[in-house]
Amino acid sequence: MELRKINVQDAAAQWQYTTELPADENGLTNPYHGVSFDEYTEKVLPTLISYEHPINMPDWFVPETYYYLWDEGRLIGEFRIRHHLTETLRNGAGHIGYSIRKDERGKGYGTAGLKLTIQIAKDIIPEEEIYLRVNLDNPASLHVMLHNGGRVVG
Ligand SMILES: CC(C)(COP(=O)(O)OP(=O)(O)OC[C@H]1O[C@@H](n2cnc3c(N)ncnc32)[C@H](O)[C@@H]1OP(=O)(O)O)[C@@H](O)C(=O)NCCC(=O)NCCS
Repeated sequence: MELRKINVQDAAAQWQYTTELPADENGLTNPYHGVSFDEYTEKVLPTLISYEHPINMPDWFVPETYYYLWDEGRLIGEFRIRHHLTETLRNGAGHIGYSIRKDERGKGYGTAGLKLTIQIAKDIIPEEEIYLRVNLDNPASLHVMLHNGGRVVG
C-alpha cells in the first residue's frame, strides 16, 4: 500500500475516481463530479497539480497537495493535505480531507491511508497539531481519526 502524489501518468485512474466521487459527501466536496476524461486531463488535472505551488491565486488560497492511496495496482482513495490553517480552515475543513472508494470501505483503508498521510503532513504543516473536521453523523470517519490518535476538541 502506498500514497502517490497526483500525477500525469495516473490520469486515467485519478479521473475515474474524481468523476465518480460525489459532489458532496459528509462535507467532503468535489466540484469535478461527472467531469469528462478530456476535461479532466486538459483542465482539472493541471489545476489540481498547481494547487501545491499556486500561481495567480487569491490571498486566501492555501496550498493543497492531493495524494492517492494505491493497493495492489488499484486506486483506493484520495487524501488532500492543506499546508497550513487559516481562520476559515481552523473553523472548517482543517488540514486533511479524505475519501475511500465505496466498494473498498470498511476494510481499514481509511485508517491506513490517514496514517500514511499524517506522516507526510508532519513535514509540511507548521502547526503543532493536525486539525481535522468530521460531521456528527459520520461515525466511520470519526473512527478513522480516533484510530490515528485523534482527540475531540469541539
Ligand atoms: C470515512 C471513510 C473515509 C472511511 O473509510 P474506510 O476505509 O471505510 O475506513 P476504515 O475501514 O479504516 O474504518 C472505518 C471505521 O468506521 C467504523 N464504521 C463504519 N461505519 C460505521 C457506522 N455506521 N457506525 C459506526 N462505525 C462505523 C468501522 O467499524 C471502522 O471502525 P473500526 O475499525 O473501529 O471497526 C469512508 O467511509 C468515506 O470515504 N466516506 C465518504 C467521504 C467522507 O466521509 N470523508 C470524510 C469526511 S470527514
